[in-house]
Amino acid sequence: MGSGIAQVSAQAGLTTIVRELTEPLCARASSAITKSLDKAIEKGKLTPDGHAVTLGCLTFTTNLDALATCDIIIEAVVEELDAKNALWRELHALAGPRTIFASNTSSLTIAAMAAASGRPDRLIGLHFFNPVPLMRLVEVVRTITTSRDTVERSLAFVRRIGKEPIVARDQSGFIVNRLLIPYMLDAIRALENGVGSVTDIDAGMQLGAGYPMGPFTLLDFVGLDTAQRVAEVMFDEYREQRFAPPPLLRRLVLAGHLGRKSGRGFYDYSQDPPVPSALGGQP
Ligand code: 3HC
Repeated sequence: MGSGIAQVSAQAGLTTIVRELTEPLCARASSAITKSLDKAIEKGKLTPDGHAVTLGCLTFTTNLDALATCDIIIEAVVEELDAKNALWRELHALAGPRTIFASNTSSLTIAAMAAASGRPDRLIGLHFFNPVPLMRLVEVVRTITTSRDTVERSLAFVRRIGKEPIVARDQSGFIVNRLLIPYMLDAIRALENGVGSVTDIDAGMQLGAGYPMGPFTLLDFVGLDTAQRVAEVMFDEYREQRFAPPPLLRRLVLAGHLGRKSGRGFYDYSQDPPVPSALGGQP
């Protein structure tokens, strides 16, 4: 997610700094962005000049101090509150007084980061969607302490990078995941109950409801561990069965079958086209 956010910011001509923990991670981010820009050229969405200008706007570093002069800092670190808060505490000590702190969290409550940020009025959620270069939406999530100025500046930033903002209240799952996660979990429950196969349930939602991807393809795309973590956080907040991760999802995550990123989830990606995986295909 982080490299996608950096790509769209740089593609809009903004000076963009990517900070990773290690040099190899910097190299991986740089190559992911270059590959995506190459594909954009292939698809006729970017010119070679645009490719060069975008890369010219990007720098990669492991040095947190490099972010001191940023107008807005967006975190896309691991989805753990302690890790995010430790980062905000470090950044508050070095960032300028007007710098906005934005979290790309998909499930945590932004308010839980306010104290660590040291700037509750300049803290906001900017929830991007996978894959960031292609998905037009950004959820702008304001807490009860986010100032009007921060909201306005954040909306202007989202539009500046060519995205469409919607404003969500700071409740777990915000708008889209609150609706999307239960839909994906229900697909797994339908599979567990033998309603249909992975491929037929996917085809059903693609051909019958016009979804660009079926629910199992989408789960593998988002990551089964991400889906499980978001579901757990929402279940904690709402205590409603529809947010409870189904046993099959837990088994797949425990088995390390995380979807595309691990080569196998509900589908086995070692085949082309991917085929339903034995474990994910049938309960
Ligand atoms: N840069 C710019 N444009 C690109 C590109 C790139 N790297 N790669 C492809 N494109 C363009 C193509 O030219 C095409 O443009 P066109 O429609 O104008 O011709 C368009 O993007 C679609 O490209 P493709 O045809 O290659 O791709 P698909 O048609 O297979 O669509 C997809 C891919 C857009 C990912 C589509 O399958 C989709 O929308 N899937 C649903 C994804 C989704 O639901 N995401 C949300 C997940 S939930 C989430 O992220 C929240 C988190 O909190 C969990």
